[in-house]
Amino acid sequence: MIDLSVEYAGLRLKTPIIAASSGITETVELMKNLEQHGIGAIVMKSLFEEEICRQAPTPRYKVLRHDMGGKYRTFSFYSYEQASVWGPDRYAQEVKKAVNELSIPIIPSINCITDDGWKRYAALMQQAGAPALELNVSCPHGSIVFRGGTDVASEIIRVTELVLNEIDIPVIVKLSPQLTAPLQIAKAVEDAGAKGVVMFNRLTGLDIDIDVESPILHGGYAGHGGPWAIYYALRWISEAYPQLHVDISASGGAVTADDVVKYILAGAKTVQVCTAIMLKGSGVIDEMNNGLAAWMNKKGYNAVDQFRGKVSNGAIKGTKDVDRRHYKKAHILDKCTSCGICAPLCIFDAIDSSTEPYRIVQDICDGCGLCAEVCPISAVEMREV
Ligand SMILES: Cc1cc2nc3c(=O)[nH]c(=O)nc-3n(C[C@H](O)[C@H](O)[C@H](O)COP(=O)(O)O)c2cc1C
Repeated sequence: MIDLSVEYAGLRLKTPIIAASSGITETVELMKNLEQHGIGAIVMKSLFEEEICRQAPTPRYKVLRHDMGGKYRTFSFYSYEQASVWGPDRYAQEVKKAVNELSIPIIPSINCITDDGWKRYAALMQQAGAPALELNVSCPHGSIVFRGGTDVASEIIRVTELVLNEIDIPVIVKLSPQLTAPLQIAKAVEDAGAKGVVMFNRLTGLDIDIDVESPILHGGYAGHGGPWAIYYALRWISEAYPQLHVDISASGGAVTADDVVKYILAGAKTVQVCTAIMLKGSGVIDEMNNGLAAWMNKKGYNAVDQFRGKVSNGAIKGTKDVDRRHYKKAHILDKCTSCGICAPLCIFDAIDSSTEPYRIVQDICDGCGLCAEVCPISAVEMREV
C-alpha cells in the first residue's frame, strides 16, 4: 500500500503536490476542481495591499518558444498577472468559504507594502480560518524584490518577524530566486519562527519585440519561468535540506511526476505546481500522483519519507570528490549516417568525417561526451578505455 501523505508546516496533506499561488487558485470553484483532481493543498492567489495590482492588463500571458534548431527546444511562460482581484475583506470571505467547503488545507498568500498591511492582512487570514499563511515576499513584480541587494534579505526577515508576532498559525515564507544567499535567508526565517520556506517564486524578465523596438505584452517587466526553472531550485533545495529544520516546498518547473520525485529526492516536503496546470490542465495533477506512486512502487518505497533528501548535500560531490580521470572516450557505431552534426562541433578535431561511418581518432578524443549528446540517433557511445 503506497502512502503519499506528508506533514507540511504542521498540516496533514494526502499528497505532496500543492497547487501554487496563481489565477488557478483564486476562487472556490477553481479550487474545487483542483481538489477533484487530487491536489494535496492549495495556496491561494496572492492578496496584494497595493491596490493597482488587483487589476491585471489584457492580454497578460505569453508562451515564449525558444528554438535553437532541431531538438533544442524549450519555452518560458511569461506573464504579468499580479494580485487577486479582491480587497482584504472579500478575499477573507473566499478563504472562509474555501476552508468550509474543501477538505484539503487552504493556504492564503499575502503581499503587502506597509507594516500595518502585513499585520492586518495576516490577522484577517487567521480570523478567516486559514490553517497556515504563505508570505509572498518574492513576487517578480513586487516591492520587496525590487529593493535589491542586502535590503531584500533584511526586509524578508523583518516582515516575517512582524507577521509571526501577529498570528499563531504556521507561517510559510516564499523566497525569490533572485536572492544572493537563499540558504542564509531560509535559515534566518527559520530562526524567526517560520514553519516552512518555498524555494522559489519566479524570476523577473524582459522580452523585446524587435519590430517595434519595445517590451512585449504590457510594455513592462514580467515574471518568467518554465520547465527549465527546476534545476536552480533543485540545486538550492539539495543544499538546504540537511541544514534546515523547517519544511521546504519546491516551486519551479515541476511539470511531470519525475520532477516531483526529483524534488523529494533533493529534500522537498511538498512540490508546488502552477505552469503545468495552467498549460496542460488539472489532469496533470492526477498524472503526477499516479506517476509518483508508480515510481515508489517500482523502487519498493511505501512512504514518501523513505526517500526524501536521498540526493541532498551529502550525496553531491564537491570539487575535490569529482572523479577527474579521463577514462572514457567516444566510439561511433555502425549505424552512424554521417549526417555531419557532430564533426564541426568537436573542438579537439577528433572526429574523422572522411569515412563512412565517421570515426573517432582515439588518441585525440578528450572524452568530453558532446558528440554523444548531439547525435540525433544515439550512434556515439562513451566507452571505458
Ligand atoms: C500566471 C502566474 C501567476 C502567479 N501568481 C502568483 C501569486 O499571486 N503569488 C505567488 O506567490 N506566486 C505566483 N506565481 C508563482 C507561482 O506560484 C510559482 O511559484 C511559479 O510559477 C513557479 O512554479 P511553476 O514552474 O510550477 O509555474 C504565479 C505564477 C504564474 C505563472
